[in-house]
Amino acid sequence: METKRMYIKNNDIEKTQVIGEAAALLKQGETVAFPTETVYGLGADATSEEAVAKIFKAKGRPQDNPLIAHVATIEQLKDLVDKLPEYVEDLIKAYSPGPLTYVLPSNGTCASNVTAGLSTIAVRIPDHSIALDILKTCNFPIAAPSANISGKPSPTTANHVYEDLNGKIAAIVDGGATGVGLESTVIECRAKDVVILRPGGITKEQIEKFIPVHDAKFKNADQPASPGMKYKHYSPEMPLWLVEGNAVDIQKVINEEQIKGKKVALLASETIYQQVNANQRINLGENLEEVANRLYDALRKFKQTEVDLIIAEVFPENGIGQAIMNRLRKAMTNYIEK
Ligand code: TXA
Ligand code: MG
Repeated sequence: METKRMYIKNNDIEKTQVIGEAAALLKQGETVAFPTETVYGLGADATSEEAVAKIFKAKGRPQDNPLIAHVATIEQLKDLVDKLPEYVEDLIKAYSPGPLTYVLPSNGTCASNVTAGLSTIAVRIPDHSIALDILKTCNFPIAAPSANISGKPSPTTANHVYEDLNGKIAAIVDGGATGVGLESTVIECRAKDVVILRPGGITKEQIEKFIPVHDAKFKNADQPASPGMKYKHYSPEMPLWLVEGNAVDIQKVINEEQIKGKKVALLASETIYQQVNANQRINLGENLEEVANRLYDALRKFKQTEVDLIIAEVFPENGIGQAIMNRLRKAMTNYIEK
């Protein structure tokens, strides 16, 4: 299959045309990648079992890992769920459209492979004009996991999608780099509280303003809080170590590995980046929002032929830092304490 690349320019006529083409492909049961405010998603008609099956095939995604249904409005969200607790309406008013995904009892409108046979469905309203325009034009829910090969870092540019899925999907709508850079927060909405299944763009502190919040406990691989939690994720091509401490501590570990003949890459925020030497270095920026925005692109940049080991700093776990550390912990192969 040839993957068509479609570009959105700042010209309204062209934009409408591209959105129309993307929606037409989705209506025909094809898969189309498009940008959201978090990462690029690989979309298909969530009411069609056959269309959704194409997502699993293209990504090489395990069949038991359910997908998020994307909708444009709260009314469309209500069409997919059994009932909506009052506090969820408050969360929706505060944070949707936005990087927050609600896991709620499903009413069975979506195809059964969207929920991987579970009784609940994950739903979100993305905060991106291209995603919203496609959803409005289609007028059906769109199932969309991150548009990467399963196990690789999620795509934050159309080029990342192309690297992973060229030839496997019908089209990619290129709308430039995404904003948040990490996936949405996934919450299980229970009667009187919520459980964070995956930290993301909306922080625990933001949700706690409305309802008590618990972090998901990961007991063992047979009983994950969310099916997605048992799979290895976000992996770069080579080992990734997280190293606690300041610039001196990190430099020491790098030097030790270089003496053994390894080519070491550094992944760090501005301050540490300025003070530490390595064979290759990527500056993730000055604050946690910038780190989140650049992380996946950075993880994809290092090539096996040039780097034997990536060393990253340990980030503070406040705000979006929780999501950053969640992804880094899943990607890492070693954690060095101070
Ligand atoms: O920001 C995002 O959420 C992006 C963009 C494209 O919207 N999408 C995304 O989808 O990250 P995906 O499929 O890569 O991650 C969805 C996560 C998985 O960990 C999955 O296991 C979990 O949500 N999930 C989906 N449905 C669920 C359900 N009914 N119960 C528990 N977890 C669920
Ligand atoms: Mg994903």
